Amino acid sequence: MSLTTPLDQYIADHSSPEGEYLYRLFRATHVEILAPQMASGHIQGRLLKFLVQMIRPKRILEIGTFTGYSALCMAEGLEEDGKIFTFEVEDELEDFTRRWIEGSQLAGKIEFIIGDALEIVPGMNEVFDLVFIDGNKREYVAYYELAMKHTRPGGWILADNTLWDGHVIEEERQDAQTNGVREFNDLVRNDKRAEVIILPIRDGLTIIRKK
Ligand SMILES: C[S@@+](CC[C@H](N)C(=O)[O-])C[C@H]1O[C@@H](n2cnc3c(N)ncnc32)[C@H](O)[C@@H]1O
Repeated sequence: MSLTTPLDQYIADHSSPEGEYLYRLFRATHVEILAPQMASGHIQGRLLKFLVQMIRPKRILEIGTFTGYSALCMAEGLEEDGKIFTFEVEDELEDFTRRWIEGSQLAGKIEFIIGDALEIVPGMNEVFDLVFIDGNKREYVAYYELAMKHTRPGGWILADNTLWDGHVIEEERQDAQTNGVREFNDLVRNDKRAEVIILPIRDGLTIIRKK
């Protein structure tokens, strides 16, 4: 689901702008990179910034950097001593994304790591206050278990695309990505360690609180 209806446009027009640097990154992503619709974009980006300002995390983990749009938005909301560790498994994205992260005034708050978060995070000995899950939909359950292990009690986990363009309620859809998202949604809802709400923004954004 993208921001295309007149009401979506109204929402965009009545929300704070993303700023010139993010606007240029979003445009460059669409001109130079395959599957640009994966980038968070204006409204979700503003929400991520606000959530970071509300939660005030010192340590954020992001699974799935892509071109860095969401990492930059979350970094914008961080306090001086906050840091975001963002992982991207696709090394072809490294040149583009590193250029945009390092060219930003927020570069000092962002640790951009090329590699599989599922392999690297367990060896990091880090505890996070906030985790943003936005990688491969087939692996959402594994990301969730990883996030639960590395989030402090009372910490927060966000997961993107949890409505998967509405496919989650279409019974005939039985592909691996849709089933990965469904399995994740069911698991979280039944997990006694967590409280959860799905916001119907963009493609579905789940907010989880680790008890
Ligand atoms: C939807 S995009 C991320 C979008 C970005 N968070 C944003 O909002 O602008 C998903 C990215 O996750 C990456 N990815 C998939 N599995 C991963 C993993 N196990 N570890 C790190 N990155 C992964 C993909 O290569 C892809 O670039």
